[in-house]
Amino acid sequence: GAAELGPYRHFMQKEIFEQPRAIADTLDAVESVTPELFGDGAYRVFKDIDSVLILACGTSYYSGSTAKYWLESIAKIPVSVEIASEYRYRDSVPNPRQLVVTITQSGETADTLAALKHARSMGMNHTLTICNVATSAMVRECELAYITRAGVEIGVASTKAFSTQLVGLFLLTLSLAQVRGHLTEAQELAHLKALRHLPVAVQAVLALEPQVMAWAEEFARKENALFLGRGLHYPIALEGALKLKEISYIHAEAYPAGELKHGPLALVTSEMPVVTIAPNDALLEKLKSNLQEVRARGGELFVFADSDSRIESSEGVKVIRMPEHYGALSPILHVIPLQLLAYHTACARGTDVDKPRNLAKSVTVE
Ligand code: G6P
Repeated sequence: GAAELGPYRHFMQKEIFEQPRAIADTLDAVESVTPELFGDGAYRVFKDIDSVLILACGTSYYSGSTAKYWLESIAKIPVSVEIASEYRYRDSVPNPRQLVVTITQSGETADTLAALKHARSMGMNHTLTICNVATSAMVRECELAYITRAGVEIGVASTKAFSTQLVGLFLLTLSLAQVRGHLTEAQELAHLKALRHLPVAVQAVLALEPQVMAWAEEFARKENALFLGRGLHYPIALEGALKLKEISYIHAEAYPAGELKHGPLALVTSEMPVVTIAPNDALLEKLKSNLQEVRARGGELFVFADSDSRIESSEGVKVIRMPEHYGALSPILHVIPLQLLAYHTACARGTDVDKPRNLAKSVTVE
């Protein structure tokens, strides 16, 4: 009811603004990095595995896609990420030493549950879930679990569940890194410090809402949008595009920026807004040349740049300045303005934000 909404217009907006609290709660019980965060016996499992298979649907698939970058670079373990409905029906090569990780807000998504059972039926018995509902079927089915503390999520388009899944997946990365001998004590402390600072950092990004609203007015008049990111921000671009299409009904696609010249550049005209995630990371210079390719074809750029990125506004280039680059956890900050952009664009178009047409919060049948 209206009372629960407080000052917010929709549950989605409320849930976006709850993220500092949701992240803090998800980290609440974490005193140090240890496999036991995932349950009794996790150490033995983490010692035994040689790779990770992530299974999920929708937004949860994109948190898993982000985690692949973390797991391979920090824990140095091979990872594959697969859409649950694809995995369950294809012939694959089972690996009993692979850790099967399901990611699910509800813990009840039919395809994800079926994919888990499919993996198990092929002899893959090391299972772990990152889930927001402690009493769900998925938590009961898996050997190990990390329960995110986003709280009840009502908006069909997932927001706080996504950012807390990323927190859980980062802790999984650190725990696996530790067991595999790739995490010094100093690194552990530095990562924990960055995690604990996240609520404050997210709060600072939420303060950009008025600037994002001004962009949303322009987006509301478009029918297409392209999202670009590179590296671990490519899945964030995918998530930004998904949010926009789900609730504003604007056709949106995401591409890794290096792939522009292999197709999407053909779509770029002055009618095509191009949203770009521009963190100040190792790929920034490459990204800048991708942006020039877009500008040269008249595309209008909407850039989320870290404050230390040195990308300036100019003709056809609008910039919103994020806080300073946040290192490995940067995706958790960069997804926030994309959630706000989708939300305010949908509001400007007058859609049913919390209950977009044809979609359900939890897909418990195939
Ligand atoms: C539905 C929801 C999405 C969600 C997906 C997976 O499509 O609308 O927001 O990401 O299901 O749900 P899960 O509960 O498994 O994360």
